[in-house]
Amino acid sequence: MSSLGLLFLLLLLAPWPPRASSLPQPDTPEVKATITGLILSSLERATVFLEERLPELNLDGVVDFRVLQVQLKAIQEEWVRDPLLRPLSLQMGRLAEKLVALLQRSISHLKLNDPNYLREFQRTILPGFWKLPHAWTRTNASMVYPTFETQDSFSEDRGVMCLVQLLGTRRDSSQPCRFSDFCRTLMTRASSSGYCLSHQLLYFLSARMTGCTKGLFCHSQHYMDLFCANMMDLNWRAEAVRYTYPTWDIFMENIMFCGIGGFIDFYKLQWLEAILSWQKPREGCFGKPTPEDDRLSEAAQYHQHFLRRVKRREKQF
Ligand SMILES: *[C@@H]1O[C@H](CO)[C@@H](O)[C@H](O)[C@H]1NC(C)=O
Repeated sequence: MSSLGLLFLLLLLAPWPPRASSLPQPDTPEVKATITGLILSSLERATVFLEERLPELNLDGVVDFRVLQVQLKAIQEEWVRDPLLRPLSLQMGRLAEKLVALLQRSISHLKLNDPNYLREFQRTILPGFWKLPHAWTRTNASMVYPTFETQDSFSEDRGVMCLVQLLGTRRDSSQPCRFSDFCRTLMTRASSSGYCLSHQLLYFLSARMTGCTKGLFCHSQHYMDLFCANMMDLNWRAEAVRYTYPTWDIFMENIMFCGIGGFIDFYKLQWLEAILSWQKPREGCFGKPTPEDDRLSEAAQYHQHFLRRVKRREKQF
Protein backbone atom coordinates (compact mmCIF):
# COMPACT_ATOMS: atom_id res chain seq x y z
CA MET A 1 0.00 0.00 0.00
CA SER A 2 1.45 3.33 -0.90
CA SER A 3 0.73 6.12 1.48
CA LEU A 4 0.57 9.58 0.12
CA GLY A 5 2.11 11.34 3.04
CA LEU A 6 -0.82 13.64 3.35
CA LEU A 7 -2.26 12.51 6.57
CA PHE A 8 -0.75 14.72 9.16
CA LEU A 9 -3.61 16.93 10.04
CA LEU A 10 -4.44 14.90 13.06
CA LEU A 11 -1.37 16.12 14.79
CA LEU A 12 -2.95 19.50 15.00
CA LEU A 13 -5.64 18.21 17.27
CA ALA A 14 -3.21 16.66 19.65
CA PRO A 15 -0.78 17.93 22.27
CA TRP A 16 2.62 18.54 20.74
CA PRO A 17 5.53 16.22 21.42
CA PRO A 18 8.35 18.12 23.10
CA ARG A 19 11.12 17.45 20.59
CA ALA A 20 13.64 19.73 19.01
CA SER A 21 12.69 21.18 15.67
CA SER A 22 13.45 24.30 13.76
CA LEU A 23 9.74 24.96 13.73
CA PRO A 24 8.30 27.00 16.55
CA GLN A 25 6.08 25.03 18.89
CA PRO A 26 2.47 25.67 18.00
CA ASP A 27 1.54 26.81 21.46
CA THR A 28 -0.28 29.83 20.18
CA PRO A 29 -3.30 29.80 17.89
CA GLU A 30 -1.36 31.96 15.39
CA VAL A 31 1.45 29.43 15.04
CA LYS A 32 -1.04 26.60 14.84
CA ALA A 33 -2.85 28.47 12.07
CA THR A 34 0.40 29.08 10.15
CA ILE A 35 1.40 25.42 10.23
CA THR A 36 -2.09 24.32 9.28
CA GLY A 37 -1.98 26.71 6.34
CA LEU A 38 1.24 25.06 5.13
CA ILE A 39 -0.24 21.59 5.50
CA LEU A 40 -3.42 22.54 3.67
CA SER A 41 -1.54 24.11 0.80
CA SER A 42 0.55 20.93 0.52
CA LEU A 43 -2.60 18.79 0.56
CA GLU A 44 -4.27 20.96 -2.09
CA ARG A 45 -1.30 20.58 -4.43
CA ALA A 46 -1.16 16.83 -3.81
CA THR A 47 -4.90 16.59 -4.52
CA VAL A 48 -4.43 18.31 -7.87
CA PHE A 49 -1.65 15.85 -8.71
CA LEU A 50 -3.98 12.95 -7.95
CA GLU A 51 -6.96 14.51 -9.68
CA GLU A 52 -5.00 14.66 -12.91
CA ARG A 53 -4.19 10.96 -12.64
CA LEU A 54 -7.50 9.68 -11.32
CA PRO A 55 -7.99 6.94 -13.95
CA GLU A 56 -4.62 5.40 -12.97
CA LEU A 57 -5.23 5.53 -9.25
CA ASN A 58 -5.36 2.07 -7.63
CA LEU A 59 -7.58 1.04 -4.76
CA ASP A 60 -4.86 1.58 -2.15
CA GLY A 61 -4.57 5.16 -3.28
CA VAL A 62 -8.32 5.58 -3.02
CA VAL A 63 -8.20 4.30 0.58
CA ASP A 64 -5.65 7.01 1.37
CA PHE A 65 -8.02 9.58 -0.14
CA ARG A 66 -10.85 8.38 2.08
CA VAL A 67 -8.74 8.46 5.25
CA LEU A 68 -7.69 12.00 4.41
CA GLN A 69 -11.29 13.03 3.80
CA VAL A 70 -12.36 11.58 7.17
CA GLN A 71 -9.57 13.43 8.97
CA LEU A 72 -10.30 16.73 7.27
CA LYS A 73 -14.00 16.48 8.02
CA ALA A 74 -13.42 15.75 11.70
CA ILE A 75 -10.97 18.61 12.20
CA GLN A 76 -13.13 20.99 10.21
CA GLU A 77 -16.10 20.32 12.48
CA GLU A 78 -13.92 20.80 15.54
CA TRP A 79 -12.39 24.08 14.39
CA VAL A 80 -15.41 25.80 12.92
CA ARG A 81 -16.40 26.96 16.40
CA ASP A 82 -13.14 28.88 16.93
CA PRO A 83 -13.26 32.31 15.22
CA LEU A 84 -9.50 32.36 14.64
CA LEU A 85 -9.45 28.94 13.02
CA ARG A 86 -12.69 29.37 11.12
CA PRO A 87 -11.13 30.42 7.76
CA LEU A 88 -8.88 27.33 7.84
CA SER A 89 -11.84 25.23 8.80
CA LEU A 90 -13.71 26.46 5.73
CA GLN A 91 -10.67 25.74 3.54
CA MET A 92 -10.57 22.20 4.99
CA GLY A 93 -14.26 21.80 4.34
CA ARG A 94 -13.81 22.73 0.67
CA LEU A 95 -10.96 20.26 0.27
CA ALA A 96 -13.00 17.53 1.97
CA GLU A 97 -15.92 18.22 -0.41
CA LYS A 98 -13.59 18.03 -3.39
CA LEU A 99 -12.27 14.71 -2.12
CA VAL A 100 -15.81 13.33 -1.82
CA ALA A 101 -16.39 14.10 -5.51
CA LEU A 102 -12.99 12.65 -6.51
CA LEU A 103 -13.70 9.51 -4.49
CA GLN A 104 -16.91 8.95 -6.40
CA ARG A 105 -15.16 9.40 -9.71
CA SER A 106 -12.28 7.12 -8.77
CA ILE A 107 -14.70 4.39 -7.67
CA SER A 108 -16.25 4.50 -11.16
CA HIS A 109 -12.79 3.99 -12.67
CA LEU A 110 -12.08 1.07 -10.33
CA LYS A 111 -15.41 -0.54 -11.29
CA LEU A 112 -14.15 -0.70 -14.84
CA ASN A 113 -10.49 -1.49 -14.20
CA ASP A 114 -10.49 -3.76 -11.18
CA PRO A 115 -14.03 -4.92 -10.30
CA ASN A 116 -13.07 -7.99 -8.23
CA TYR A 117 -10.56 -6.21 -6.04
CA LEU A 118 -13.06 -3.38 -5.65
CA ARG A 119 -15.81 -5.78 -4.52
CA GLU A 120 -13.50 -7.25 -1.86
CA PHE A 121 -12.27 -3.92 -0.52
CA GLN A 122 -15.11 -1.52 -1.26
CA ARG A 123 -16.05 -1.33 2.40
CA THR A 124 -12.69 0.27 3.20
CA ILE A 125 -13.45 3.22 0.94
CA LEU A 126 -17.05 3.78 2.01
CA PRO A 127 -17.92 6.50 4.52
CA GLY A 128 -17.96 5.20 8.08
CA PHE A 129 -15.26 2.53 7.81
CA TRP A 130 -12.34 4.63 9.05
CA LYS A 131 -12.92 6.02 12.52
CA LEU A 132 -10.49 8.35 14.22
CA PRO A 133 -8.97 7.31 17.55
CA HIS A 134 -11.01 8.44 20.54
CA ALA A 135 -8.05 8.13 22.91
CA TRP A 136 -4.32 8.59 22.37
CA THR A 137 -1.50 6.34 23.46
CA ARG A 138 2.26 6.18 22.95
CA THR A 139 4.63 3.51 21.77
CA ASN A 140 6.59 1.50 24.31
CA ALA A 141 10.28 1.17 23.42
CA SER A 142 10.69 -1.96 25.52
CA MET A 143 8.59 -3.85 22.96
CA VAL A 144 11.12 -3.35 20.16
CA TYR A 145 12.42 -6.64 18.72
CA PRO A 146 16.07 -7.49 19.53
CA THR A 147 16.65 -8.00 15.80
CA PHE A 148 14.61 -7.48 12.66
CA GLU A 149 14.27 -9.93 9.83
CA THR A 150 15.44 -8.11 6.76
CA GLN A 151 14.38 -10.87 4.37
CA ASP A 152 10.94 -9.96 3.11
CA SER A 153 9.27 -13.36 3.20
CA PHE A 154 5.75 -11.99 3.70
CA SER A 155 3.55 -12.90 0.80
CA GLU A 156 1.55 -9.92 -0.35
CA ASP A 157 -1.16 -12.15 -1.90
CA ARG A 158 -1.61 -14.15 1.26
CA GLY A 159 -1.75 -10.96 3.31
CA VAL A 160 -4.52 -9.72 1.02
CA MET A 161 -6.33 -13.06 1.39
CA CYS A 162 -6.26 -12.70 5.20
CA LEU A 163 -7.65 -9.20 4.95
CA VAL A 164 -10.47 -10.34 2.65
CA GLN A 165 -11.33 -13.11 5.12
CA LEU A 166 -11.37 -10.55 7.93
CA LEU A 167 -13.63 -8.18 5.99
CA GLY A 168 -15.91 -11.08 5.09
CA THR A 169 -16.10 -10.09 1.43
CA ARG A 170 -15.08 -13.37 -0.20
CA ARG A 171 -17.68 -14.66 -2.63
CA ASP A 172 -18.36 -17.81 -0.59
CA SER A 173 -18.56 -16.31 2.88
CA SER A 174 -20.05 -13.10 4.09
CA GLN A 175 -19.19 -13.33 7.78
CA PRO A 176 -16.58 -10.78 8.87
CA CYS A 177 -13.89 -11.30 11.55
CA ARG A 178 -12.87 -14.80 10.43
CA PHE A 179 -9.21 -15.86 10.46
CA SER A 180 -7.47 -19.09 9.53
CA ASP A 181 -4.54 -20.58 11.47
CA PHE A 182 -2.38 -19.53 8.58
CA CYS A 183 -3.46 -15.90 8.95
CA ARG A 184 -3.02 -15.94 12.72
CA THR A 185 0.55 -17.14 12.28
CA LEU A 186 1.35 -14.74 9.45
CA MET A 187 -0.16 -11.71 11.10
CA THR A 188 1.38 -12.22 14.55
CA ARG A 189 4.84 -13.35 13.48
CA ALA A 190 7.60 -11.51 15.38
CA SER A 191 10.60 -9.64 13.98
CA SER A 192 9.05 -8.43 10.71
CA SER A 193 10.11 -5.12 9.29
CA GLY A 194 9.19 -2.87 6.36
CA TYR A 195 5.91 -3.51 4.59
CA CYS A 196 5.42 -6.91 6.29
CA LEU A 197 5.29 -5.11 9.60
CA SER A 198 3.03 -2.29 8.41
CA HIS A 199 0.65 -4.84 6.87
CA GLN A 200 0.51 -6.77 10.13
CA LEU A 201 -0.54 -3.53 11.81
CA LEU A 202 -3.03 -2.79 9.03
CA TYR A 203 -4.62 -6.18 9.62
CA PHE A 204 -5.36 -5.43 13.28
CA LEU A 205 -6.34 -1.87 12.46
CA SER A 206 -8.86 -3.20 9.94
CA ALA A 207 -10.14 -5.62 12.57
CA ARG A 208 -10.77 -2.68 14.88
CA MET A 209 -12.53 -0.68 12.14
CA THR A 210 -14.66 -3.75 11.32
CA GLY A 211 -15.56 -4.24 14.99
CA CYS A 212 -13.89 -7.65 15.47
CA THR A 213 -13.33 -8.38 19.16
CA LYS A 214 -13.28 -12.16 19.54
CA GLY A 215 -10.56 -14.83 19.37
CA LEU A 216 -7.33 -13.43 17.98
CA PHE A 217 -8.90 -9.96 18.03
CA CYS A 218 -9.22 -9.98 21.84
CA HIS A 219 -5.52 -9.16 21.63
CA SER A 220 -5.68 -6.50 18.92
CA GLN A 221 -4.42 -3.73 21.21
CA HIS A 222 -1.44 -5.83 22.28
CA TYR A 223 -0.42 -6.49 18.68
CA MET A 224 -0.94 -2.87 17.70
CA ASP A 225 1.28 -1.80 20.64
CA LEU A 226 3.91 -4.29 19.53
CA PHE A 227 3.87 -3.43 15.83
CA CYS A 228 3.78 0.34 16.31
CA ALA A 229 6.66 0.19 18.81
CA ASN A 230 8.70 -1.47 16.08
CA MET A 231 7.45 0.85 13.35
CA MET A 232 8.52 3.75 15.56
CA ASP A 233 11.98 2.22 15.95
CA LEU A 234 12.28 1.84 12.16
CA ASN A 235 11.21 5.44 11.65
CA TRP A 236 13.90 6.62 14.07
CA ARG A 237 16.39 4.62 12.04
CA ALA A 238 15.15 6.25 8.85
CA GLU A 239 15.63 9.65 10.42
CA ALA A 240 19.13 8.67 11.61
CA VAL A 241 20.21 7.97 8.02
CA ARG A 242 18.60 11.23 6.90
CA TYR A 243 15.68 9.56 5.15
CA THR A 244 17.42 8.12 2.12
CA TYR A 245 14.88 8.12 -0.68
CA PRO A 246 13.42 4.60 -0.96
CA THR A 247 12.45 4.65 2.72
CA TRP A 248 10.15 7.69 2.33
CA ASP A 249 7.11 5.67 1.45
CA ILE A 250 7.27 3.20 4.34
CA PHE A 251 8.26 6.01 6.72
CA MET A 252 5.06 7.89 5.83
CA GLU A 253 2.94 4.74 5.79
CA ASN A 254 4.07 3.95 9.35
CA ILE A 255 3.00 7.43 10.48
CA MET A 256 -0.35 7.16 8.71
CA PHE A 257 -1.26 3.70 10.08
CA CYS A 258 0.00 4.11 13.65
CA GLY A 259 -1.36 7.65 13.76
CA ILE A 260 -4.85 6.51 12.92
CA GLY A 261 -4.27 3.64 15.38
CA GLY A 262 -3.98 6.28 18.12
CA PHE A 263 -0.20 6.46 18.65
CA ILE A 264 0.33 10.16 19.09
CA ASP A 265 4.12 10.05 19.19
CA PHE A 266 4.19 9.44 15.42
CA TYR A 267 3.14 13.06 14.94
CA LYS A 268 6.43 14.88 15.29
CA LEU A 269 7.11 18.33 14.02
CA GLN A 270 10.51 17.42 12.63
CA TRP A 271 8.98 14.53 10.67
CA LEU A 272 6.24 16.76 9.30
CA GLU A 273 8.88 19.27 8.31
CA ALA A 274 10.93 16.60 6.49
CA ILE A 275 7.88 15.25 4.65
CA LEU A 276 6.72 18.66 3.49
CA SER A 277 10.22 19.24 2.11
CA TRP A 278 9.88 16.11 -0.07
CA GLN A 279 6.92 17.43 -2.01
CA LYS A 280 7.78 18.60 -5.48
CA PRO A 281 6.69 22.21 -5.51
CA ARG A 282 5.40 22.15 -9.04
CA GLU A 283 4.00 18.66 -9.49
CA GLY A 284 2.66 18.34 -5.95
CA CYS A 285 3.72 14.70 -5.62
CA PHE A 286 6.18 13.07 -3.22
CA GLY A 287 8.07 11.17 -5.91
CA LYS A 288 11.63 10.11 -6.43
CA PRO A 289 13.98 13.06 -6.12
CA THR A 290 16.03 14.03 -9.13
CA PRO A 291 19.69 15.05 -8.65
CA GLU A 292 18.45 18.59 -8.81
CA ASP A 293 16.02 17.93 -5.94
CA ASP A 294 18.94 16.53 -3.91
CA ARG A 295 20.90 19.70 -4.36
CA LEU A 296 17.88 21.72 -3.38
CA SER A 297 17.31 19.69 -0.24
CA GLU A 298 21.01 19.92 0.74
CA ALA A 299 20.71 23.65 0.43
CA ALA A 300 17.51 23.58 2.40
CA GLN A 301 19.20 21.90 5.34
CA TYR A 302 21.27 25.01 5.85
CA HIS A 303 18.20 27.05 5.40
CA GLN A 304 16.32 26.64 8.62
CA HIS A 305 13.40 28.49 7.22
CA PHE A 306 10.16 26.66 6.79
CA LEU A 307 8.57 29.04 4.34
CA ARG A 308 11.36 28.86 1.82
CA ARG A 309 10.52 29.25 -1.82
CA VAL A 310 11.92 26.69 -4.17
CA LYS A 311 12.72 27.40 -7.75
CA ARG A 312 10.09 25.94 -10.04
CA ARG A 313 11.36 23.19 -12.24
CA GLU A 314 10.48 21.95 -15.67
CA LYS A 315 10.87 18.23 -14.96
CA GLN A 316 7.93 15.99 -15.58
CA PHE A 317 7.07 13.45 -12.92
C1 LIG B 1 6.14 -1.51 28.19
O1 LIG B 1 6.28 -2.86 27.83
C2 LIG B 1 6.87 -3.66 28.85
C3 LIG B 1 7.17 -5.03 28.28
O2 LIG B 1 6.13 -5.53 27.49
C4 LIG B 1 5.92 -3.68 30.04
O3 LIG B 1 6.45 -4.47 31.07
C5 LIG B 1 5.71 -2.25 30.53
O4 LIG B 1 4.76 -2.22 31.56
C6 LIG B 1 5.24 -1.36 29.39
N1 LIG B 1 5.23 0.02 29.82
C7 LIG B 1 4.17 0.80 29.71
C8 LIG B 1 4.33 2.21 30.14
O5 LIG B 1 3.10 0.40 29.26
